[in-house]
Amino acid sequence: MIDARALFDADERRALVAEANLAPSVHNIQPAQFRFAEDGAIHIVEHPRRRIPVGDPTGADNRKSLGAAAEGLVMALAARSIAAKVCIDVGVRVELEADAAPDPLRAHVQTRATWRGAFATPSIADARALADLARFDDLTVVTNAAQRADIAALYDAVSLLTLRDNAYREELVSWMRLARSHPDWARDGLNAEAMALSSFEAFGAGVVMGKAFRTLDRMGLAGPLIAEGAKVKGAAGVVFFHRPAAESDYETGRRFYRVWLEIAARGLVLCPMSVLADSAEAAAQVKKTWGIREERKLVTAFRVGRLPEKARLPARVRLPADELIV
Ligand SMILES: Cc1cc2nc3c(=O)[nH]c(=O)nc-3n(C[C@H](O)[C@H](O)[C@H](O)COP(=O)(O)O)c2cc1C
Repeated sequence: MIDARALFDADERRALVAEANLAPSVHNIQPAQFRFAEDGAIHIVEHPRRRIPVGDPTGADNRKSLGAAAEGLVMALAARSIAAKVCIDVGVRVELEADAAPDPLRAHVQTRATWRGAFATPSIADARALADLARFDDLTVVTNAAQRADIAALYDAVSLLTLRDNAYREELVSWMRLARSHPDWARDGLNAEAMALSSFEAFGAGVVMGKAFRTLDRMGLAGPLIAEGAKVKGAAGVVFFHRPAAESDYETGRRFYRVWLEIAARGLVLCPMSVLADSAEAAAQVKKTWGIREERKLVTAFRVGRLPEKARLPARVRLPADELIV
């Protein structure tokens, strides 16, 4: 095993962890911290306070986020011709070994980002790219318009049920940065740009998700105001991502990142819709309808499409690398 501390100086360590931290994380809370440890390995540990206890009571989403960061680190190391062994226990330990080949998916690490806006009108090329993704046995691809409409309706219904939980909503809002003046706008969480909201819409979102929610909900208006089903209907497809039920969340997170990069490699952008997996009833319905076997866990559903011609992906929001090294 190669000693990571001997191999990388402070600048190189910062570059490595910054790249690893480009991985997706739930609500962009960025729970991964990196320790260049005395045993020569790089330990990826969970930040003690970067947690969402209401939305992620068991910590599974944080473990997936740490797994995704580990995969990011493995790709960053491979680009430096270093192979890595990922050991999963309570956290993640990445051991360095000699001679890796670069990973072609790394080419999309800098440009991958969540797209929460509307998609371009689907094309034949999109359908082909999605058909190509269907060859992975952990992806179930739905392109049929009527089926996408069913998923859109289910997604909106489950989202509304989830948002009716005041504690859930409060926690989500605490990670939303609705104005540029927010001190963490460019550091973490979900800013208005990442959520594809204009400043006017962002103001409205603050009102709807905040004090007005219950009143609006009583008036039957909260549902239509938070609905995103139109974006599912306008997508080229929905990709259900499922893994063996017994797989560790860390491993699932590694694969989560690679699947996202596979989709990016085909020129497509996406937005996860994890409430469909987090709600046991919705997940059971999805698995039954689309023939996903009982022994699989539904990890998430991605709505996938092409970026509209004049749109650009939002700027990435990340913590400074110095804060990630402990
Ligand atoms: C386990 C997991 C679940 C996620 N679920 C959702 C989701 O339901 N909706 C959503 O908009 N983004 C979801 N995301 C995406 C993150 O919000 C996103 O990765 C993060 O904000 C960082 O932004 P970036 O992907 O653009 O770099 C999820 C990410 C992870 C790792």
